Amino acid sequence: MLSHLLRMHGIDSIVLESRSRDYVEDRVRAGVLEHATVELLCRYGLGERLKKIGLEHDGIWVSFGGIRHFIDMKKLTAGKCITVYGQHEVIRDLIKARLDAGGEIVFEVEDLSVGDLASAAPKVRYRRHGAAHEVICDFIAGCDGFHGVSRRSIPDGVLDFYERIYPFAWLGVLADAAPSSDQLVYTYHDRGFALFSMRSPKVTRLYLQVDPEEDIANWPDRRIWEELRIRMTTRDGWSPSVGPVTQKSITPMRSFVSEPMQYGNLFLAGDAAHIVPPTGAKGMNLAVADVAVLARALCEFYAEHGRRVLLDQYSETCLQRVWKVQRFSWWMTSLLHRDPRESPFDRRRRLAELDYFVASRAAMTTLAENYVGLPLEGMLTYT
Ligand code: DHB
Repeated sequence: MLSHLLRMHGIDSIVLESRSRDYVEDRVRAGVLEHATVELLCRYGLGERLKKIGLEHDGIWVSFGGIRHFIDMKKLTAGKCITVYGQHEVIRDLIKARLDAGGEIVFEVEDLSVGDLASAAPKVRYRRHGAAHEVICDFIAGCDGFHGVSRRSIPDGVLDFYERIYPFAWLGVLADAAPSSDQLVYTYHDRGFALFSMRSPKVTRLYLQVDPEEDIANWPDRRIWEELRIRMTTRDGWSPSVGPVTQKSITPMRSFVSEPMQYGNLFLAGDAAHIVPPTGAKGMNLAVADVAVLARALCEFYAEHGRRVLLDQYSETCLQRVWKVQRFSWWMTSLLHRDPRESPFDRRRRLAELDYFVASRAAMTTLAENYVGLPLEGMLTYT
């Protein structure tokens, strides 16, 4: 995304990717795009397939005690909504746009390292098919995820870390089953959280709260459907439709922030700098917001003879949004998951919060304006 934004403003970049093109284009991850993410993608020429196959959702269901409550986000946010469009579809659109424009994406790079970060000519070294390569550049964007080398290459003592590990994980399932609801269903059940989502009119995406140490081998398809049925069936008889499972995996949950998000001419973006738990689907949206800030700062640098005002503020600008999204993702996670350590008091307090929430327009508005996404302020504009 950063590479694409920069190109549209006349700035060259090289993208280095450790995986193959097929791998990144097929790996199913989250799938909810905020209102402003969709606007940005469309404004930058990436809206064609998104508008054709993306599914616009006006609201979500929140279900507990066997009853589903509809949160009409469009009404509560004066017309905003979210779009269900898989992250791998966004990746496909971006790769195509970059390659069509003659952009350089090097797939399957190995042994990548970054150096001379505090100098005016930072370097990236990597190997590909056995041959060694070096790129000398003006800036490095560390968009290499939580386990990437960028953050770990910043000298000790520069960064502060903030972290919260949750005592649960998500078992994610992809099934060839026509979605039995037009909108997402977030369920709290005493046996744990469950989420009904979708990828297309024929594919359902489902998640179940499980123990973080859980082994996927303990979850044959029959057990998954049984657990989904128990947690999600509502008194009016609604439950997820069943079909062949095509993918399943377990993802641990954590909240993590690294501050600052920059060192010299290295700028961290997305999961390299912060992780949110998946509830609310903010991860990719937050990464897009980071690179929109970074692209604008780099545009200022090149357009204004090396002016670094926005670059110097990069971390501070991003972190304002990052912490608000951290708060929201933590809140939605805490509200909807069964915490194995919680006391009977905590459980009753949670049920009271759910009851209050679905009866209060103010509380639902708070969810809605965070869920459709906070405004992308001070962002790049392109005409
Ligand atoms: C999806 C993922 C989420 O984390 C979420 O909150 C909603 C939907 C999904 O993958 O469809």
